[in-house]
Amino acid sequence: MAHQVKGVIAETRGAPVQLTDINIPDPGPGEALVRVLACGVCHTDLHYREGAINDDFPFLLGHEAAGTVESVGPGVDNVAPGDFVILAWRAPCGSCRSCVRGRPWYCFDSRNAAQPMTLPGGRPLSPALGIGAFAELTLVAAGQAVKVPPGANPAAAGLIGCGIMAGLGAAVNTGGVTRGDSVAVFGCGGVGDAAIAGSRLAGAHTIIAIDIDDRKLEWAKDFGATHTINARHTDPVDAVRNLTNGNGVNVAIEAVGNPLTFEQAFYARDHAGTVVLVGVPSPDMTIQLPLIEVFGRGGAVKSSWYGDCLPTRDFPMFIELHQQGRLDLDRFVSETITINDIEQAFHKMERGEVLRSVVVF
Ligand SMILES: NC(=O)c1ccc[n+]([C@@H]2O[C@H](COP(=O)([O-])OP(=O)(O)OC[C@H]3O[C@@H](n4cnc5c(N)ncnc54)[C@H](O)[C@@H]3O)[C@@H](O)[C@H]2O)c1
Ligand SMILES: [Zn+2]
Ligand SMILES: [Zn+2]
Repeated sequence: MAHQVKGVIAETRGAPVQLTDINIPDPGPGEALVRVLACGVCHTDLHYREGAINDDFPFLLGHEAAGTVESVGPGVDNVAPGDFVILAWRAPCGSCRSCVRGRPWYCFDSRNAAQPMTLPGGRPLSPALGIGAFAELTLVAAGQAVKVPPGANPAAAGLIGCGIMAGLGAAVNTGGVTRGDSVAVFGCGGVGDAAIAGSRLAGAHTIIAIDIDDRKLEWAKDFGATHTINARHTDPVDAVRNLTNGNGVNVAIEAVGNPLTFEQAFYARDHAGTVVLVGVPSPDMTIQLPLIEVFGRGGAVKSSWYGDCLPTRDFPMFIELHQQGRLDLDRFVSETITINDIEQAFHKMERGEVLRSVVVF
């Protein structure tokens, strides 16, 4: 039996999103039907709407979600009806060449639901990042539904499914930030602030937040930034060096997705330091760096995909850290909104007024 619910779709490139009826099938083998409780509005949803990800319109948007399992299909044993879950856009297969190499965070055959969710006429929808959670119900591969301890606010918990995981993991998993380190974070949106929160959790000594918006820099302090730099008024590379005895930081994290900030992060590192690119560039962006600087500075230049996470390991841990009072997830939620307000939330995001607007059902 298919369920008809309201969902938010992007029908054509650049057009405002629409709230419309969508059909969600009952779960088949290996699938889970999830009742969405909350779903954050992420920049990537806007990228989908603008056609910047691919052309597979219509998209069912929404991918930073928490909910409860409604029902499961045959062969599902990782979750059961009633479980509180966070949806992940990577569900490692366990058998691809990366998984068998012991690196499931790079899984090349990540699972999604096999059956399509559709418009009432039967036209299949492309769910954003294989999730599609701006809807009362969504169908995912069971492995995408990650059981976490109950009790956390769903609006905050859902953000672990994308922005928080991406930023926190970029610092801790990809960048390897550890006790006593110095860290610089370029771009203090939800992702950058999660990198700051992760650096604090890992015991970093100096955490430098860089943005071009003073409001963002104030918020960054709440997550653990020890110093802030407004790159609109100050050269951030010089300022980072001045704050680190002329040396630069151990780990520089780019969370904008821009060649200029990547270059700044590259040069703001100490010798043998690590630069991590977590911001997503557009396909037309290029960089030019003297090769002698790449060689002479040593260290590592890394990209971070989804914070190099293992959702089943990391999502429950973050909820527990939150419940212990060591990771403030609620602070990422700027406002809660209804499913009718997503277009306005995109505009607030573009104006820099929010870290995250979160749809609550
Ligand atoms: N790698 C991944 O797995 C992954 C996952 C999710 C998001 N992302 C990407 O991370 C990036 C950040 O996402 P977000 O949700 O935090 O976005 P956001 O738009 O909320 O934040 C970006 C921040 O960068 C700041 N900024 C812009 N230009 C700057 C400059 N020149 N110098 C310093 N700061 C500048 C903005 O003021 C803003 O605060 C995006 O590119 C997003 O697509 C990556
Ligand atoms: Zn795999
Ligand atoms: Zn996202």
